[in-house]
Amino acid sequence: MSTHRRWFLQHVAQTSEYPFGLEISHAAGMYIFDVHGKKYLDFDSGISVSALGHCHPAVVSAVQNQVATYMHTMVYGEHIQSPQVEYAHMLAQTLNNGLDSVYFVNCGTEAVEAAIKLARKATGRIEILSCAGAYHGSTIAAESLRSDTEFTRHYVPSIPCVRHLPFNDVEALSKITERTACIILEPVQAEGGIIPATEAYLKAVRKRCDETGTLLILDEIQTGFGRTGYLFAHQKYGIIPDILLIAKAMGGGMPVGALVAPSDLMKTFSNHPALGHITTFGGHPVCIAAALATLKTLVSESYIDEVQQKEQLLRELLRHPLIRTIRSSGLMMAVELTAAEHLSPVIRLLIQNGLLTDYFLFDRQSFRIAPPLIISHDEIRKGVSIILNTLDQIQHHSYLS
Ligand SMILES: Cc1ncc(COP(=O)(O)O)c(C=O)c1O
Repeated sequence: MSTHRRWFLQHVAQTSEYPFGLEISHAAGMYIFDVHGKKYLDFDSGISVSALGHCHPAVVSAVQNQVATYMHTMVYGEHIQSPQVEYAHMLAQTLNNGLDSVYFVNCGTEAVEAAIKLARKATGRIEILSCAGAYHGSTIAAESLRSDTEFTRHYVPSIPCVRHLPFNDVEALSKITERTACIILEPVQAEGGIIPATEAYLKAVRKRCDETGTLLILDEIQTGFGRTGYLFAHQKYGIIPDILLIAKAMGGGMPVGALVAPSDLMKTFSNHPALGHITTFGGHPVCIAAALATLKTLVSESYIDEVQQKEQLLRELLRHPLIRTIRSSGLMMAVELTAAEHLSPVIRLLIQNGLLTDYFLFDRQSFRIAPPLIISHDEIRKGVSIILNTLDQIQHHSYLS
């Protein structure tokens, strides 16, 4: 065992007993390389992060320039820093829907936390609704939004006044009332195994929120930045949230997140009392420089326009007796197997065969495909052929020998 592997197992805290344990050498474009020189085609993007692939030159150069110019100067929201100003301006112009104020934070979970606080303060109400099967992050407040008590019971008490509604159930929306501060949901439930909201449902949520003065928070942390074939999934559904949450692909591989809302609503944080949400590192200039390069590249190149074609190609090629069905929304895809007991062997054997995919948190019968959006048709064919060969091996148990 290499020294680094030993130290990893001894000193780097583990989140499971069986980490993938790939010893990384470097990464470029669609590939990650391990220290033994083995090359892995990335069909996961570090869970929907690396939309432009690894070490995209525009992102690398933005980071290098910013590191050499200035890094930390003051906690968030005090100094005028050009990466933040330019990013917020560009995002507001691009959205062009009244969501014109960006509060930068460090990650998705923090965006969720801050949005809950903003909704409670702005409405003076305490009830929060989320949907069964949702995942919004891993702090106590974000975990309280999770419906699966088998997991959350170890971390109780959750935050009070959270109720869970069945997803995609229009009738259940009568539970949104004048007491509800906000409802938070994902346009496509990612960790549940890629379950898109129906357009009728999202429109009904919007309508009910308008009737009751409830704020609609859309968690686009996983669906954002082109993953579904639109810059943001809500654009496809034709609704505008009151608060939009973004992270993951936003930073082009750097850690950053944000909540985006109309400036009148966002001002709730800056008075009575001031400092409603504060962060030392949120909106770090190096991360936002990377985010700006990512956004500029995504809007100027054709990657997002090509997403649906690539999704179609994947769906056409992925046919095998061990695949029961495929659910997808753009380049976020769940490949459901005919048998749950095949899932771990498939994912592990795919890694051995040079392809990176991943599990879902709540769907124990499907593996995740979410490649960088830059993937070419040839790379799709190559990845699919690894998947089909791997499934053949599983089917014939040759992986055991
Ligand atoms: C939909 C969704 N919301 C929130 C989060 C939490 O984001 P982070 O891990 O950046 O805190 C995730 C992370 O997987 C997510 O998929």
